[in-house]
Amino acid sequence: MLRVEKLSKSFGGLKVTDDVSLSLRAGERLALIGPNGAGKTTLVNQISGFLGADAGAIHLQDEDVTRWPAHRRVRHGLVRTFQISKLALTLPAIDQVALAIHQRDGSINNMWRRKTSYGPVLEEARSILDALQLGRLAHVAPSEMAYGDQRLVEVALALALKPRVLLLDEPMAGVPKSEAQLILDALERLPSDLAVVIIEHDMDLVFRFAHRIVVLANGAVLATGSPDDIRRDDTVRAVYLGKAGQL
Ligand SMILES: Nc1ncnc2c1ncn2[C@@H]1O[C@H](COP(=O)(O)OP(=O)(O)OP(=O)(O)O)[C@@H](O)[C@H]1O
Ligand SMILES: [Mg+2]
Repeated sequence: MLRVEKLSKSFGGLKVTDDVSLSLRAGERLALIGPNGAGKTTLVNQISGFLGADAGAIHLQDEDVTRWPAHRRVRHGLVRTFQISKLALTLPAIDQVALAIHQRDGSINNMWRRKTSYGPVLEEARSILDALQLGRLAHVAPSEMAYGDQRLVEVALALALKPRVLLLDEPMAGVPKSEAQLILDALERLPSDLAVVIIEHDMDLVFRFAHRIVVLANGAVLATGSPDDIRRDDTVRAVYLGKAGQL
């Protein structure tokens, strides 16, 4: 689904992504881990088209999307969420998801669309929210929700764009431990053919969710492997995991 080849980006003298390569199959769950400042968000910014690359290439299925703007990548199924929430805080969840669906199908640009066309869009919005256990909050604005539910609304907005590859930048960031399970449950129920990249610092969650793990350090790939490989990798333990005693 996705192939990233030798991607690099520098800010001044600082190499934030350094020759990064990775690939992702349909339905695969890949976790991207690494210390703060390792370059994880920068890599997601590059893959999603929010940031250009100094060198390297990005392929989405058979298309070379390296020079495509972000919105074109979205139309081809490459969708990301943000480490820092980007929700409209006062607009009810179902209306936000409906807007995303209108954006996806292009009808957002048509002021004269038929009133009857809203019905199917609202139904689809409702079913996306239901699948994330957010149905009870459909008419609630994010500002009135628990933070964990707000983060799930962001996932709902991403799903409304019908992704084939979904990039989740710390969907649990800022969520209290008591609400984390709800999000993990929702993530585990994502469509099985959807390819997912998740950035996450909670190692319990990473090892439960991921089929494969890529470890970034100083912008470069330090290791790639199955959760078991990564757990046993001495360099990874030394650089990242071991110091927190999490394994
Ligand atoms: N626009 C920018 N200009 C200059 N430096 C930047 C910019 N964006 C990020 N950086 C630097 O690039 C490095 C990587 O940052 P990035 O946000 O990608 O890390 P991260 O792995 O996502 O960290 P975290 O786990 O804290 O979210 C950091 O040193 C950061 O300060
Ligand atoms: Mg980040």
